[in-house]
Amino acid sequence: MPAAHERIEKSPALLIVLVLITVAIGGLVEIVPLFFQKSTTEPVKGLQPYTALQLAGRDVYIREGCYNCHSQMIRPFRAETERYGHYSVAGEFVYDRPFQWGSKRTGPDLHRVGGRYSDEWHRVHLMNPRDVVPESNMPAYPWLASNQVDAEIMPKKLSVLRTLGHPYTDEQIKASVEETKGKTEMDALIAYLQSLGLALKDKRS
Ligand code: HEC
Repeated sequence: MPAAHERIEKSPALLIVLVLITVAIGGLVEIVPLFFQKSTTEPVKGLQPYTALQLAGRDVYIREGCYNCHSQMIRPFRAETERYGHYSVAGEFVYDRPFQWGSKRTGPDLHRVGGRYSDEWHRVHLMNPRDVVPESNMPAYPWLASNQVDAEIMPKKLSVLRTLGHPYTDEQIKASVEETKGKTEMDALIAYLQSLGLALKDKRS
């Protein structure tokens, strides 16, 4: 009669199942409490859900794959906070579904880029980055200036987010068509970029 331990070691299938159970318990113990912890589930003071135009811009950001070169996650290190501002905290991302943290930084982190440049700077930069930063290898996105935002779909987007807990009012949902009608994807993307990271912007760590 072999010892239980020996039996487990000699049966790969049993070993795999038991390892998975052990790892799952370890994972749950670490992850589940985060769902109930205030600092990870409550918005930081002053954080607003995205306006309809910013939300449309965020969808452009995701569609164009800006996250392939840009993170939105400032780490709590001196070199990062000196360059970008206050490090990112979980409560700043409660209205980001999905969040755009990323880790690939071909370009700079964008979490606190809001308000750093004028709208016009962004427009020129997105039309052709080389016009403002000669050594830039960021692609140009000229089509965003001629693509219109699909305004009719905005109420639906806001309503879905409301079911997930984003505090949109009926008026905001109704007004979202007017707010985005006639706007280009460039307008929307710039509105989104200008909104990034403002909640903790001026408080250096
Ligand atoms: C191939 C990589 C790449 C992609 C994709 C890319 N970027 Fe960039 N981005 C860069 C690089 C490199 C820089 C730094 C040089 C410059 O300012 O152009 C930069 C700079 C920026 C800056 C200025 C940041 C600062 O603090 O100076 C903004 C804003 C920006 N990118 C937005 C975007 C947006 C929006 C998209 C998607 C539509 C995008 N980028 C896609 C590489 C990329």
